[in-house]
Amino acid sequence: MQTQDFDKIIQKRRSVRIYDETVPFDENAVKRSIDRAILSPNSSNMQLWEFYWVKTKSVHDALTHACMGQSAIKTANQAVVFVTRQDKWKERSEWNLANLKKQFEGKTLTKRDERALDYYRKLMPLVYRSDPFGFNTLLRSIIVFFMGFRKPFLRIRNNGDQRVMTHKSCALAAQTFMLSMAAEGYDTCPMEGFDQEIVKKILNLPSIAEVTMIVACGTGKPEGIYSERTRVANEKVVFEV
Ligand SMILES: Cc1cc2nc3c(=O)[nH]c(=O)nc-3n(C[C@H](O)[C@H](O)[C@H](O)COP(=O)(O)O)c2cc1C
Repeated sequence: MQTQDFDKIIQKRRSVRIYDETVPFDENAVKRSIDRAILSPNSSNMQLWEFYWVKTKSVHDALTHACMGQSAIKTANQAVVFVTRQDKWKERSEWNLANLKKQFEGKTLTKRDERALDYYRKLMPLVYRSDPFGFNTLLRSIIVFFMGFRKPFLRIRNNGDQRVMTHKSCALAAQTFMLSMAAEGYDTCPMEGFDQEIVKKILNLPSIAEVTMIVACGTGKPEGIYSERTRVANEKVVFEV
């Protein structure tokens, strides 16, 4: 791949808020883009995410309402809702563990292999387990305090830390999706301007699930780009250290 091609994709991707619903839309581009998004890097390969591909008009209309009528979703051909599923940690740990065991079948395990198995057997439950009384947060806080006293240690203590972890990975998937759609010749708009409670009801999500963002997509109209792309000077945000 040429870097010029990648640069074209980066330059093409803008947040487009008005779409041309009359232009034919190839929904296979969405499918391919979701498939690519799934290959995004994600914390410990736990894949604590879900992607809701909105194809039904009634769901699309309900989501438009939840997005307070934003034209980006109202006029979009389709949308994908990026959701975090912290509650799936046990299932995903076991899935990773089973995969590793399969890979290691018939092999004499090295120390690194044992560490990899322990990662999903012991560390992931320690990082993600939660309970209504906060015992696990207390346990993690104590472990972090003692283990992190003298040396670097992963400072994941509470539900907030866990939520940040899951949203980071889910946001990366959303970005892969948007760049892929740009490569497919389509426009997108990421949105966090929505009523999460309503979105969760529409998608029938459990209370622990969270919506990272909704990405609208389609063929944008020129007037769907509201302003020039501007960024603060690099000196304000880029530091050579
Ligand atoms: C997490 C996130 C949430 C956003 N939410 C909205 C939104 O609700 N509505 C909207 O019109 N644009 C939204 N945007 C788009 C930003 O306004 C846009 O990315 C920014 O102005 C930079 O413009 P560009 O994407 O065209 O480069 C969001 C972007 C991100 C990354």
